[in-house]
Amino acid sequence: MKDVMTASQPSMSSVPTQARKRPLVVMEQVSKMFSSGTVALSGMSLTVESGEFISLLGPSGCGKSTALRIIAGLGDVSSGRIDWPSSRINSKGLPEGDISFVFQEPTLMPWKNVLDNVYLPLRLRGVSKAAAREEIMAVLATVGLQDFAEAYPRELSGGMKMRVSIARALVTKPKLLLMDEPFAALDEITRQKLNDDVLRLWKETGITVIFVTHSVFESAYLSNRIVVMKARPGRVHGDIPLVTSLERDAHYRTSEEYRQACETVSRSLIGAINAAKEDR
Ligand SMILES: Nc1ncnc2c1ncn2[C@@H]1O[C@H](COP(=O)(O)OP(=O)(O)O)[C@@H](O)[C@H]1O
Ligand SMILES: [Mg+2]
Repeated sequence: MKDVMTASQPSMSSVPTQARKRPLVVMEQVSKMFSSGTVALSGMSLTVESGEFISLLGPSGCGKSTALRIIAGLGDVSSGRIDWPSSRINSKGLPEGDISFVFQEPTLMPWKNVLDNVYLPLRLRGVSKAAAREEIMAVLATVGLQDFAEAYPRELSGGMKMRVSIARALVTKPKLLLMDEPFAALDEITRQKLNDDVLRLWKETGITVIFVTHSVFESAYLSNRIVVMKARPGRVHGDIPLVTSLERDAHYRTSEEYRQACETVSRSLIGAINAAKEDR
């Protein structure tokens, strides 16, 4: 494919020098060993530019969640470092301007309605519900749930619960949205709809997204850059910029460009799996 290149990471070559801004987050030679002795990451380096939509792709157990959690400050590194070159850092070592996390499970409070579930991050910041209401309703509208503010999680489908979870992640207007296989448990049609929702939100808000998936098709549909991870221990195997002039929509799913992107990504993933086998 002409405009899909496989480059060794970090991939900065496509960014013109004059347009190059300071990256949002840099993982530098990050290693993580759990107390069990499992080495989940070894020497993982990744530079994320503001506004990118990156998919982190790799086989199960390769360290995708570990990498995401470390970026979110939910786990510490054993060695290496995480830098936020364009952000002011708070006392917890995290950037101001906020990071939001969407997990595979929507993790809603069953005893609270949709509005109160989405309110949670603002409540934790001491914002009153009255002051938050407008913001909550606006974010519910962006995920198509404005009519479900009073509904309880048990009344919602799997896809709607995930939309609530995304609304809760967006209500604080984060700079960085981390999504850990958010749609893996959903049926294909719902997943495709939510893929389109996330793409629309990304375009509308200019947010930076790091999206973990083990689906080649999902990563090639969503991202403008795919980072393929190698397993045991996890690190970057391939860094694939995906540039297309086509709108990512139903038409794109059946286009030759998409097919070729899937093939390129798939080949890199197979390479990552084989390389990990050879290391053993
Ligand atoms: N809290 C933990 N304690 C010990 N081992 C862990 C822990 N979390 C993950 N691991 C191990 O680290 C490796 C990477 O896990 P993970 O990051 O969850 O992979 P992925 O998200 O790519 O499936 C796996 O071998 C997993 O069993
Ligand atoms: Mg995982």
